[in-house]
Amino acid sequence: MSQIITVHSYRGGTGKSSTAANLAVLLASSGRRVALVDTDIQTPALDILFGDALGTVRHSLSDYLIGRCEIEDAAYAAEADAGHDGFFVVPARSRAAGINEIMGRGYDVGLLREGFDRLIDSLALDVLLLDTHAGFNNETVTSMASSDALVVVTRADRLDMAGAAETMSLAERLGCGRLSVAVNLVPAGTEPEPLRAKVENAFGTPITVALPYAPEMASLAGERLFSTAYPHHPLVAGYRRIIADVSNGTTALRRPAPHPPSLS
Ligand SMILES: Nc1ncnc2c1ncn2[C@@H]1O[C@H](COP(=O)(O)OP(=O)(O)OP(=O)(O)O)[C@@H](O)[C@H]1O
Ligand SMILES: [Mg+2]
Repeated sequence: MSQIITVHSYRGGTGKSSTAANLAVLLASSGRRVALVDTDIQTPALDILFGDALGTVRHSLSDYLIGRCEIEDAAYAAEADAGHDGFFVVPARSRAAGINEIMGRGYDVGLLREGFDRLIDSLALDVLLLDTHAGFNNETVTSMASSDALVVVTRADRLDMAGAAETMSLAERLGCGRLSVAVNLVPAGTEPEPLRAKVENAFGTPITVALPYAPEMASLAGERLFSTAYPHHPLVAGYRRIIADVSNGTTALRRPAPHPPSLS
């Protein structure tokens, strides 16, 4: 049974794209057929993180949404990152489809969900992983509502945690399946138990994992994926814990409503 996993944070810069990219590569390296979709049309990242594998991007999620291509045309094989031919990346934008164009013209939000389903079927996916824009917009809410599992990324500060609580309450209303809370950018020397107690009190739900701040990620400067460059790093062990958490018990998950609420 295929699974849709959305990675979200209410505030920006918490590590959604890094987490989604690494989860996707780790899932694909374990032999699963995976597509990673950048639904963050306003501030995309995956075309940069996977730039070498993608080459020149002529078709993207935005091109699909404005009717310039089929969704399958926007799925780029990135087998070098996975070690087999079942790993795809769908970038948010191409040179042809700019942010002004899609913002100005708008699009039928139902196409997004239809595109997710088409990717799952035509690429015979085990996992469709969705990276999102911070906060709530049509793409984010549709992604959440389409998900079997939601990974909420947050820093352990009050602003982030207040936002993450909003994400969780919306997730509950949308009927997202499994929930995994990942506290990212945890400074070295942080005592794990007080951190866990603080976050769990704030959310009323157990956290899945505390992901350490890894200065090595800054040194990589986006040139290579972290899990490829540092496969034995504790941060990668944390990514694997998230996978174990969201992959567990997928058959018992509720299917979301086909037409999520529109925010526009
Ligand atoms: N665990 C970590 N340790 C060190 N640096 C990290 C870690 N996680 C993410 N980063 C860095 O933090 C920055 C923000 O990460 P990322 O782009 O993944 O966040 P985001 O939530 O997707 O941001 P946006 O809201 O802009 O889309 C990047 O420079 C990334 O390399
Ligand atoms: Mg991002």
